[in-house]
This record gives sequence, C-alpha cells and structure tokens, in this order.
Amino acid sequence: MKLLCILGPNLNLLGEREKDIYGTLDFEGLKALIRKEAEKKGVEIEIFQSNHEGAIIDCLHEKRGIVDGIIINPGAYTHYSIAIRDALKAVHIPTIEVHLSNIYAREEFRHHSVVAPVCWGQITGLGAYGFILALQAFILRGEKK
Ligand code: DQA
Repeated sequence: MKLLCILGPNLNLLGEREKDIYGTLDFEGLKALIRKEAEKKGVEIEIFQSNHEGAIIDCLHEKRGIVDGIIINPGAYTHYSIAIRDALKAVHIPTIEVHLSNIYAREEFRHHSVVAPVCWGQITGLGAYGFILALQAFILRGEKK
C-alpha cells in the first residue's frame, strides 16, 4: 500500500508555533513518527509539506493513479480552499483529513472545513496520534477489500 501524507501551510513550524495548541513535537519529529509507524505496518508513505496552495494541488495531480490513499492536514486551507477541495475530488483517491487541534473547540472560523465533504473521514484534536490512526484506517480498509 502506498500513501501520501500532505502537510499544509505553517506545519513546518511545529514545535515552535503555538505550542499550547499544537504541542511540542516538531516537524522533523512528526515526520519521523509517521515514517516509523508506516514502516512498522509495511506501508509506503511519502510526506509532502508546502506553504503554497498550487504546490499542494500539483502534488495531488502527480500522485493520481499512484497512491492508494491520502492523509492531509491542509492547515488553514481547510477552511477556504475550494481549489484543494476540487483537486481532492478530481483525483478520486480516498482521503482522510487530519487536524492536530480540535478545530470545533477553537475560533468559529475554524469550525467549517470545505474539504471534509470530499474526504472519506476526518480526525481532529488527537494531536500526532491522528496521523497514526489515519494510517491504521487505511490498513483496515485495505484488509477489508
Ligand atoms: C490545523 C488547524 C487549522 O485551523 C490551522 O489553520 C492549522 C493547523 C490543525 O492541525 O489543527 O494550521 O490544521
């Protein structure tokens, strides 16, 4: 199984950015955790981070027909990027949206995700565990097939 993990804007600053909300695990640590978990489970995973909407969309286009699943934390794009939502819909790859913080327990403008309706599911508020759980969900989905 091949998965793509996309991390959107400002997630490269994890560990220094709003630690009270996002925790102390830094970006390198998060990537290492995801990679370790994938390796343990025998899953191939590519991690892509970008602060640019177009780069995220290009990456999604490039991976169509190549990956079996997408785990995406679109950062703030979650709340307004119709372009990322359209790209996710266009590539026809099952996708899990993951947020480190609980977006429903924060400011009102974070309560709405424009990408959620085109995703298989959403995990929010469980910190880095969200990525591990998303990985596990894809494994269970694969076993069911
Ligand atoms: C986030 C939540 C978003 O609202 C925010 O803009 C982020 C991070 C999260 O992982 O909790 O950048 O996606």
